[in-house]
Amino acid sequence: MRIGVLTGGGDAPGLNAVIRAIVRKGIDTYGHAIIGFKDGWHGPLEGAFSELTIDSVRGILPRGGTILGTSRTNPFKTEDGAKKVLDTLRSNRIDALIPIGGEDTLGAAAKLAAEGANIVGVPKTIDNDLSGTDYTFGFDTAVQIATDAIDRLHTTAESHHRVMVVEVMGRHAGHIATYAGIAGGADVILVPEHPFDVDEVTRHVRKRHTRGRFFSIVVVAEGAEPFEGALTTQEGELDAFGHARLGGIGNALAAELERRTGFETRVTTLGHVQRGGTPTAFDRVLATRFGIAAIDAVHNGEFGVMVALRGKDIVTVPLAEATAELKTVDPKIYDVAETFFG
Ligand code: F6P
Repeated sequence: MRIGVLTGGGDAPGLNAVIRAIVRKGIDTYGHAIIGFKDGWHGPLEGAFSELTIDSVRGILPRGGTILGTSRTNPFKTEDGAKKVLDTLRSNRIDALIPIGGEDTLGAAAKLAAEGANIVGVPKTIDNDLSGTDYTFGFDTAVQIATDAIDRLHTTAESHHRVMVVEVMGRHAGHIATYAGIAGGADVILVPEHPFDVDEVTRHVRKRHTRGRFFSIVVVAEGAEPFEGALTTQEGELDAFGHARLGGIGNALAAELERRTGFETRVTTLGHVQRGGTPTAFDRVLATRFGIAAIDAVHNGEFGVMVALRGKDIVTVPLAEATAELKTVDPKIYDVAETFFG
């Protein structure tokens, strides 16, 4: 078989581990040819690809980013996009495609599968917000990076008696904020799932002062919003999937907290640092298991599915089901976080 692979959307630590697993088992065990498409859906749209070999994936297991490049190209943005992708696959005798991506990349994959393409998806996002899988790779690394940052901010916050607002990624779901906040001992954690009350955040921060703790750590997910709708944060520009570029809630909240409490407040926006660099061991293992499961599914002719982690097992779930809705933060874990607020 000739099997295509692409990586789409925001990158995540572990992408190269998936590619390596697909190539190693695909070639060594099954004798298939593996074709790497460049820059997400741009590759099959424009016919940009090259064959991957065992040599071309040597040494990439611990490397962040993706050797294939990525983009937020949406093949359904133009009228003939899907047709172009299908034509590229057909004219290059590509029997199956493994797109590695999040809700947007796999959403497009589900539509192409419905149009007859043989597809096995691999879930990826540092945000961990894909339903159908307990965890996506990249999440553990992002949480570790954010936790390290919170630990460092703790000591300087305490020395200067400051409020530190830490903005982390999480457009529609606050998994990173919740996990890193719990791990780092945050005093308030704000997530997109729960519109927040600025008065209440202010109360938590003041309460700490009355207990002789003259510093606070407030972790806020980039997609969190006050329910008053008072703090404007979005910046207009939309990507090919219609998402606004976020960023700014941390600054807006910090200014408001300082104004209300009079406590000196600083902001750290972690941004893309959370996506860069080497994956944790957990993410390398998960990504490797996903890659192996994906090439196995293709080899067995099981298409229209996404590989997923359920409990301890790697399973396959229908692509359409996996991309139907976003996985938000489990209220039980947020309850744990809330115990430590204020
Ligand atoms: O989808 C993952 C993610 O990291 C989001 O949390 C974030 O909003 C977005 O990507 C930012 O991506 P970029 O700036 O690369 O478009």
